[in-house]
Amino acid sequence: MRRTGVALAIVGAAATCAVAAHLVAKRVRQRANWSRAVAILQEFKDGCATPLHRLRQVVDALVVEMHAGLALEGGSKLKMILSYVDNLPTGEECGLYYALDLGGTNFRVLRVQLAGREGRILQQEYEEVSIPEALMVGSNEELFDFIAAELASFVASEGEGFHPLPGRQRELGFTFSFPVKQTSIDSGTLLKWTKGFAISETVGKDVVEELQAAMARQNLDMRVSALVNDTVGTLAGGRYWNEDVMVAVILGTGSNACYVERADAIPKWRGVLPKSGSMVINMEWGNFWSSHLPRTPVDDALDAESLNPGDQGFEKLISGMYLGDIVRRVLLKMAQEAALFGDVIPSNLLIPFILRTPDISAMHADESADLKEVTRVLKVVFKTQASLRSRKMIVDVCDTVAERAACLVAAGIVGILKKIGRDTVGNVDMARLKSILAGKGRKTVVAMDGGLYEHYPKFREYLHNTAVELLGKEVAEQVVVELSKDGSGIGAALLAASHSQYLSD
Ligand code: BGC
Repeated sequence: MRRTGVALAIVGAAATCAVAAHLVAKRVRQRANWSRAVAILQEFKDGCATPLHRLRQVVDALVVEMHAGLALEGGSKLKMILSYVDNLPTGEECGLYYALDLGGTNFRVLRVQLAGREGRILQQEYEEVSIPEALMVGSNEELFDFIAAELASFVASEGEGFHPLPGRQRELGFTFSFPVKQTSIDSGTLLKWTKGFAISETVGKDVVEELQAAMARQNLDMRVSALVNDTVGTLAGGRYWNEDVMVAVILGTGSNACYVERADAIPKWRGVLPKSGSMVINMEWGNFWSSHLPRTPVDDALDAESLNPGDQGFEKLISGMYLGDIVRRVLLKMAQEAALFGDVIPSNLLIPFILRTPDISAMHADESADLKEVTRVLKVVFKTQASLRSRKMIVDVCDTVAERAACLVAAGIVGILKKIGRDTVGNVDMARLKSILAGKGRKTVVAMDGGLYEHYPKFREYLHNTAVELLGKEVAEQVVVELSKDGSGIGAALLAASHSQYLSD
């Protein structure tokens, strides 16, 4: 009896020891995992850091590349494309104009009835159509036929309040938000696709000819009067209401900027200098590249596995299409190397682009004590959960990615202001001096559009604060960033009006 008792006690003690050893081992493992996760985060933060001195280097590098891109064709990765827009809307435009806005997974068709300075926009209507994913990587003809068919059915629904002039062709402004080498205001060849489109046949083709041909196949009698990038459309749309608008920036799925440049500061421009003395330059800043850009191995992997490796380096650090996936990649590393979500890696974490930028904005904005929103996103997107301290770490990853992006955008905007001499209070050229004396033009307005800017408050905050830090308070007070929601469609219609074939009538 006693012996059995002793044996049982020994077995019990051994079991307790085993459990304790297991617990200790588990705790040691957890501690090691946590330290590894912290180290991964720190390493990533170091790589993303954007101290002011570094941002100033980015500003200067951008200015240098702007000069190089304006000097000659191919002078820089920054294309600095001539838009052929040398007269921006004035408010005097009249008549019925259409616009087609293609630049992402949705496209818009719209019509406006313009009534000059007094009446302005009498009436407008639009429709938004989503592009089936297969068409984004399918054939050229299929894509343009789909767009032209939607446009034709929109035109067929034209009703009360819209007045095409008898005997005149309807005219259209075509916003095409991809890198295009413009050859005139109404022609241009596609240089490459971005943002998930990949239809190789279209590259090198004149996209206006493609659209005109597709419209003809639909028996739609309409002329493309202006081909514009969405940044240029946004600038034109902003200018219609406010003549201080000098720059436009898109922060959406993709990113880009354009601005009004002095024609005599564009050495590669070989034509007659425009009467206005200036021309809008589509920078295609998504392709900006500099060794000063803060990059990490995560960014290199994202680029290498993208549809366009080696291209759009700046865009891949700052735009809505990529921010979510940068976060996903960091979390995946933490899951693989530090068991952030436990011993099993959630399979959804392996799916590229499954975490979208609106998800990271939602997690980033979560101020609840137990981070409910983070729990929700993890559950819905990755079908997983994480401890509170891990959830805090996830918010930190979102913060790091958004802060870097916003600071770089601020540096980009300051670079443009520097190029056009609007980054100091003292720098006033003659034209500006005249308008200041006439009581106008004291401000420099940046028209901004895109979901990333509109729907990500913390991103906006970082952007504004950094711009103020870079410019200094006094200059920053002269610069206004204005949300110009969906301005690019109206802007294209306005440019169709200011470049109408009937203008001399
Ligand atoms: C395109 C630009 C466009 C920007 C914003 C980029 O991917 O290259 O042409 O303006 O996205 O839509």
